[in-house]
Amino acid sequence: MTAIWGHRGASAYAPENTLASFQQAIQLGVDGVELDVQRTADGHIVAIHDESVNRTSNGFGRVVDMTLDELRHLDFAHGFAGRRNVKIPTLQEVLELFRETTLTVNIELKNTIVLYPGMEDDVVRIVNEFGMLDRVIISSFNHYSLANLRGKIPPQHVGALTSDGLFEPWRYVSWLGAGAIHPHFAALQQPDYVWLCHEAGIKVHTWTVNKDEDAIALAAKGVDAIITNLPDRVARAVHGPR
Ligand code: G3P
Ligand code: MG
Repeated sequence: MTAIWGHRGASAYAPENTLASFQQAIQLGVDGVELDVQRTADGHIVAIHDESVNRTSNGFGRVVDMTLDELRHLDFAHGFAGRRNVKIPTLQEVLELFRETTLTVNIELKNTIVLYPGMEDDVVRIVNEFGMLDRVIISSFNHYSLANLRGKIPPQHVGALTSDGLFEPWRYVSWLGAGAIHPHFAALQQPDYVWLCHEAGIKVHTWTVNKDEDAIALAAKGVDAIITNLPDRVARAVHGPR
């Protein structure tokens, strides 16, 4: 059965990558969530998609240049009328929220523009401190970073993010040491893509699917998870009313 994961929490309904968004996702009955992480100047892993705070907060500047304390003074309510004083969460705060659930937590390392050397080790250490590796998947578009995880965590906890057009990605992903591929959903137009991944022992977690008809078609192809901004709506389309 296809799992439904909330993209950046339930980002259609609350400010993305905030505790409000993750709480909303839990309330909507998701099977898991995806979040993005960057690293602060003083070494904290925080949930935020962009390298800078410009789009999602009332501040200005790059995460890599700011301390956690400086980030905490910003409001990440961006564009959500009626919300104020929404704080950026640390990875620890996100994991604390999910610790009492059984949900999957997909942590996407945003380390392709700012490379944050050693970030993958920081994240693994934090996840292990919470004893949550069994239901965490660490993904990234930076496959050098994912290669650094070889031998440190089992492949089923590593997801290789890809856009479309990669030839026979199941071979590459297996060689890379990832147990899952996270393709943009357009890639799955290639015939037998999901089946061939499954034959190679690779799970398929696809993003970001917000239209009912796309979600229904992808579930019919057998994808293991759909990552969506609208987890309630997509779950209803794929699985019917709860
Ligand atoms: O992890 C899936 C998806 O979030 C990748 O793209 O830019 O939304 O982080 P982006
Ligand atoms: Mg992401």
